[in-house]
Amino acid sequence: MHSLRGAFSETVYIYGAALSKAIAEKWRPEVLSLGLGLGYNEVLSAALLTAAQQAEDAYVESFESDEGLREYFTHWIRGDSSLVPDEFLRAYDEILQRCAQHAQIDPAKVAATLRLWLNSGQLVLRGPLSATTQFSRRFCCFLFDAFSSKSTPELWQEAFLIDFLSATAREHAVFSTYACTGALKRALRSSGFTLEIREGFSSKRDSTFAFR
Ligand SMILES: C[S@@+](CC[C@H](N)C(=O)[O-])C[C@H]1O[C@@H](n2cnc3c(N)ncnc32)[C@H](O)[C@@H]1O
Repeated sequence: MHSLRGAFSETVYIYGAALSKAIAEKWRPEVLSLGLGLGYNEVLSAALLTAAQQAEDAYVESFESDEGLREYFTHWIRGDSSLVPDEFLRAYDEILQRCAQHAQIDPAKVAATLRLWLNSGQLVLRGPLSATTQFSRRFCCFLFDAFSSKSTPELWQEAFLIDFLSATAREHAVFSTYACTGALKRALRSSGFTLEIREGFSSKRDSTFAFR
């Protein structure tokens, strides 16, 4: 398992910035997360929105192509620990502790929010995101954490990104990602976003924070 500490710091730096912007603007929290992985962004969303008392009408739609990761995360939220491998349980619990500590809130409250969201359909875990994915709603906060343009090239192409944003972004929206490619910047600008190129995390040169 990769370094949880480094991944947590990156999550706060890159994706926490977008969540904080949406919270500060008091936009209805509708979050699209690409790349569930171990669920850092989902748990951080629950922690920050619960602490800001904006969890009640939140909606989080999260994409993950690996079915096992979706299942383990769901079982963990539901408390079905016997269905989750130990190393995942330990990772989820540590992520929960770190996110709660960051948001200065009781981890039990964050876990309760995740359970409530899952049971009420406010947290929806979907399969792979692709050009044919259909959306039934729009989002104000994008946490775009798929792998790189080398491993998932279709998700980083300018035409895909323009169509994706046109189908999914609310008029007021914030978009964050660890990446900073030319195609991504062009797609965001042509979709009306203002870009802030931030220092990258760890060995990466730049990262992208954009809003409109
Ligand atoms: C960098 S990791 C995400 C880390 C994650 N934010 C976390 O909290 O652990 C990228 C994830 O994107 C997933 N992924 C890759 N292509 C995808 C696609 N087309 N749709 C959905 N998920 C995808 C991978 O399976 C992987 O779990």
